[in-house]
Amino acid sequence: MENLSGKTAIVTGASSGIGKSIARRLAKEGMNVVLAARSAEKLADVEEEINSGGSGEAIAVPTDMADQSSVRALVQQARNAYSAVDVLVNNAGQMLAGTVRSGKTNEWDSMIDVNIKGVLYGVDAVLPEMIQRGSGHLLNIDSVSGHEVTKTSTVYSATKFAVRAISMGLEKELARTGVRVTNISPGMVDTPLMGSRSVDRKILDPENIADAIVYALTQPAHVNVNEITIRPV
Ligand SMILES: NC(=O)c1ccc[n+]([C@@H]2O[C@H](COP(=O)([O-])OP(=O)(O)OC[C@H]3O[C@@H](n4cnc5c(N)ncnc54)[C@H](OP(=O)(O)O)[C@@H]3O)[C@@H](O)[C@H]2O)c1
Repeated sequence: MENLSGKTAIVTGASSGIGKSIARRLAKEGMNVVLAARSAEKLADVEEEINSGGSGEAIAVPTDMADQSSVRALVQQARNAYSAVDVLVNNAGQMLAGTVRSGKTNEWDSMIDVNIKGVLYGVDAVLPEMIQRGSGHLLNIDSVSGHEVTKTSTVYSATKFAVRAISMGLEKELARTGVRVTNISPGMVDTPLMGSRSVDRKILDPENIADAIVYALTQPAHVNVNEITIRPV
C-alpha cells in the first residue's frame, strides 16, 4: 500500500497521546480515519480537528476495547461509513504501574482486558475480510516493556510481551495472505500515560511513533516491516 490516500484506517486509543497523533498523521496522508476510544468528548475534538484540516476525514466511534461487542460494532460502523477497513492500528492501552506484591488485581484485569484482549478483539473483527480481499495491515503498538521488565512493570510488561507474541504469531499465520503485520515498540513517549514521571533527557514525541506507522504502511505491498523499536537517544 504505497499510496495511503482514500484508504481507511481504524486507530484505537485515538483520543489522546500516540493514537491521536497517528490519527492526525494518517488523515494528513489522505486517509479516512475511524477514531476509537471510550471518551466521546475527546474523540469529537479530534474528529472536528481532522475534518476541518482539509485532507482526509474522520469519524468518531466511542468504543470500549475491553468489550468484544463494542469492538465488533466499531468495525461495523467503519464498514458502513467507508465499505472496507484497510488498516487497523491497535494502540489503545493502559499502564498501571505497580508490583505484583501490591496485589491490585483490578488493575491487572483492566490492563489484560485492554492491552491483550482488546488487540485480539480488534484483529478478530477485521481479519476475515482482509484475508478474503488479500490485503490489509495490522499494526500493534507494543512497548520496550514488551522486551524488558523492571520491578514495577511486571504486569504491564506481561501484557506487552503478549502483544509482541500476538504480532509474531500473526506474521507467521498470515504469510502469503497479503495481510501485513507490524509490531511497534516505543520507549518513553511524552503522553498523559507517562503521568508526572521525572525524566533526565528529551523523550520521544507522539509524532515520532506516527512517522514509524507511515514508514511501515508506505513500503511496497510485498514488504512486511515486522518490528520497529524506537527509543530516545
Ligand atoms: N507513552 C509511552 O511512553 C509509551 C511507551 C510505549 C508504549 N506505549 C503504548 O502506547 C499506547 C498509547 O499510549 P499513550 O502513551 O498514547 O497513552 P494515553 O495518552 O494515556 O492514551 C491511551 C489511549 O488508550 C485509550 N484507552 C484506554 N483504555 C481504553 C479502552 N478500554 N477502550 C478504548 N480505548 C481505551 C484512551 O482513551 P479513553 O481513556 O478515552 O478510552 C487513550 O486514547 C499504549 O498501548 C501504551 O501502552 C506508550
